This record gives sequence, structure tokens and C-alpha cells, in this order.
Amino acid sequence: MARIPHPPRRIVGVLLLLTAGAAGAVAPARFVRFSEARPILTELAGTLPAGLDALAPAQLEAAWPGWIERHDRAIRARLERGDEDTIVNWLLFGTSFTSRPRAVLGAVEAGGDPDAVLRKTIALITARLDDLLIALAKPGADERRLFARAFLERRGLRFASPADMDAAGQYLMAAVIRVATEQDQIDQELAATSGGDPGTEFVRRSRLFRTRGLSLDTALPSNHAVEQTLSAMKARGVLTAGSVRRVAIVGPGLDFADKDVGFDAYPQQTVQPFAVLDSLKRLGLAPPAADPDIVLLDISPRVVDHVTRARARATKTMGYTLNLPLPRSTPWLPEVRAYWKAFGSQIGAPAQPAAATAVAALADVRAVRVRPSAVQRLSVLDLNIVTERLDGEAFDLVIATNVFIYYDTLEQALAFANVAAMLKPGGFLLANVSAPRLSSLALNAVDTTTTRYTGTGILDFLVWYQAPARQAFLRKLISIQGTIDISAGGV
Ligand SMILES: C[S@@+](CC[C@H](N)C(=O)[O-])C[C@H]1O[C@@H](n2cnc3c(N)ncnc32)[C@H](O)[C@@H]1O
Repeated sequence: MARIPHPPRRIVGVLLLLTAGAAGAVAPARFVRFSEARPILTELAGTLPAGLDALAPAQLEAAWPGWIERHDRAIRARLERGDEDTIVNWLLFGTSFTSRPRAVLGAVEAGGDPDAVLRKTIALITARLDDLLIALAKPGADERRLFARAFLERRGLRFASPADMDAAGQYLMAAVIRVATEQDQIDQELAATSGGDPGTEFVRRSRLFRTRGLSLDTALPSNHAVEQTLSAMKARGVLTAGSVRRVAIVGPGLDFADKDVGFDAYPQQTVQPFAVLDSLKRLGLAPPAADPDIVLLDISPRVVDHVTRARARATKTMGYTLNLPLPRSTPWLPEVRAYWKAFGSQIGAPAQPAAATAVAALADVRAVRVRPSAVQRLSVLDLNIVTERLDGEAFDLVIATNVFIYYDTLEQALAFANVAAMLKPGGFLLANVSAPRLSSLALNAVDTTTTRYTGTGILDFLVWYQAPARQAFLRKLISIQGTIDISAGGV
């Protein structure tokens, strides 16, 4: 039988975007060229990663195409570790495969004896692990179980015999220890960078997850910060009514099981694309005649596949249900609760939340059924924001929350340069990291919106980065590149 070759990832991405019906022609994502990276590489000389450092300029240019391709693969390989982190968090906090309590260190009653707490926590994790393995042995149609099982099977693990189960259990226990060790290192870095004002801490922590696996975790509150920021930008007049026509969201994420309460009783969902559309409409920033195009740029095949399937269902007039639990254990400020209550009013209608006593016991719940026409405003493209960009794209607004923090200085600088190249002159990037301090970056930090989620200091900082207006952009290019031919007016 003839085999149909699997189309290259890049082509699939373009097809998805084109079939998604996004306005305007879209060129394929392509790797950053050496000429585009050169100003950043020059500024970072002496601190470049192995493979690029200590190369003479001509050698650097020759090494670049190979390096960027290899680095693209290395970044994508981090997704597997992120998926494993997700499975570990689910094992510790999930509710759909066990009735046992969440396994949070220190949460087990043991009369104040730290050793006893540790022993009881390990016993709880072991018991939850047994429950998970039983669930994975008979996954049925449960998408989380099928995902975790497929992940483990790719590592040669099986679920047929007691010996298979032991091996899978050992693998997962080792993963729990790895995740706990990494968390400990992050806690140490947090402690080392604490002190001073919150703004200084924000700058110091902007690359905190640079060695972590790339996870898809997402939650509602960041979107409250985005709405607060958009509202502040409108009040300042930098975004005007009806002006936001084309938006990119870098890394929209996929909600698998939240780390506070372990919500996993409803289908996986992506929240941010709908949240952004809802906010733009609520604030009157969307054009009155037609909703903005929301282009999702993500390296995760799980995100791309999820959105593609949602879009396919929307073409058959099926909407998209979002479940929105708000944990009661967090002392949310009233404005967060108000955001949660209003969420979805512009893009859908209230719906019946997934019936789950485990969730209802711990959270206030509501659900929204998003209209198919709103789902169809979304399109999705496989794009690595560190290594790739789109030509001929012009976004009014790019949003990237909880994405750039996974990258180091060079990677962040490349990501900022790629976003800058895809923004309209004067367009904005909203990101919750402090950009590397490099004069060659074409985006200027205009302001920062600080959003408080609780009275006890859970904060988010969203920086408004602006692309230069056309004239300023040309001046910047000329200052970076020496001379530039603008006779064809093609910049
Ligand atoms: C932690 S989630 C954040 C989700 C959402 N933005 C939020 O704030 O809740 C990170 C997302 O960024 C994506 N991502 C990570 N690195 C990326 C890259 N280099 N290019 C594009 N997407 C990336 C991941 O696949 C995931 O969807």
C-alpha cells in the first residue's frame, strides 16, 4: 500500500492558518536570518552560548543557519519535559482518577513533626500513584488518561502486567522527585532574588524558568491582568476605540489540571484566546463591524491540534464550552471576582458547568458557551517565537503572558525581535517579563500595568512594549545597520 508522506510541520502550519480563514495572506513561518540577529549577537558577544561564542564574525554568519535550526529543535524538545511536569502535577493534584486528598507537602496532619509530614506525604503520593496507574490501565475515552498513557508508552512503558505497572510507577516516582528538585531550585532562586521593591524583583525574575520544561499551564487570572492593561491603554489614548483589528497571542496554553485545586473534571480547554476577544469587545477596542482576527502562535502540537479541532467543530455550528472554576481557598480581590463573573458576556452565553462534586466543593463554578462565530475568529499556527517569524504579518497587538519567562537572555532578545518584526509601526506587545537591556531591540517599554489578584500580594506586571512609528523605525534600522536601501519603500 502506498504511504502518504507526512507533510512537513511548517506546511501543516500554513495550511491550518489558511484553512482557518484568517484575513490576509500569510507567508510561512521562517527562521530568523543572520542579518536580523546580527545586532543582538554583536551586543551579546562574550556571553553567547557554546557553538556561537568565540567565533569570528564570518564564522558566526556561517554557523548561524545550522545553529538556529538545532536550537529550534532543542526548544521543541523541552515540550516533552513540560508534558511530564503536567502529568506529575496531575498525579499530585488531580481529582478525576482518585478520591484521595491533594498531595501538597505540609498539608498532611502529622502533629507538627516534619519527618512524619514527609512520611505521610510520600505515602499519600504512593497511594495516588497506584490509583493513577489503575486509571491508566483502563483509560477508556478519558483524554487526560489517554494523553498520559501515550506519553508513558513512548518511553517503552506498558500496563498489562503487575511488573509493567511497577516499572511505570518507578518512572513516575522518579519524575515526581525531578519536579520537586527543580521546584526547590526555583524556590532558592526566588529567595535569592527577593527583597527590594516588587518592580526590582520582577526584573530579576524575568528569566526564572529558563531551564524548565515547557508546560502549557494556563489559568484565568492572567487574563484579568490583560484586561486591566488594555483598559489602562485605552484610558491613556494609546489604543483607541475600534482600532484593534489583528491580534497575535503567543503561547495561548491548554488547561489540563490546575496546580491549586487539581481541576480536571472537564475537557481540556484554551482560555486566553477567548478571554482576549471578550476583553477587546467589552472595552470597545474591537472594530464595531467585525470582530478582530486572533492568530495563535504556539510550538505545542497539543495546542495547535486542540484549536484546529475547535475550529472544525465551529464550522459545523458547534460552540466551545469554557468551564471557569474560581478556587475559594484564594482570597481574590473583588475586581478579580467581577472579571470572572463578566467573563464571556461578549462572546457567548452562560452554560451549565461540568457536574463535578470535587470541583464544586472547592470552587465557585460557572461556564460559558462561546458562539461558533467567535471560535471562527481564531486561527492557529505552529511557530517558535524564539527562532521564527512571519513575513508580511502586521499585528496591532501581540500578547505573550507566561511564555518569555521560559527563556534566557539571547532567546528573549530573539523573541522580542521576532515580535517587533510582526507588529505594525506603533503596535504593542504585552508581556509579563522585563526585556533584556539591549539597545538593538526595536521595542520600547512605554509603561507597566501592575495587577493585584489578592490582598496578600499576588502581583502580575504587564509591560506595554511599543514598536516604533514608521519614521522612528527607519531611523533605528539605519543606526543599527549603518546604511539601508529604502528606495523601493519596502521597509
Ligand atoms: C505556561 S503556558 C502560558 C499560557 C497562557 N499564555 C497563560 O498565560 O495562561 C506557555 C505557552 O507558551 C507556549 N510556548 C512556549 N514556548 C514557546 C515558543 N518558543 N514559541 C511559541 N509558543 C511557545 C507553550 O506551548 C504554551 O502554550
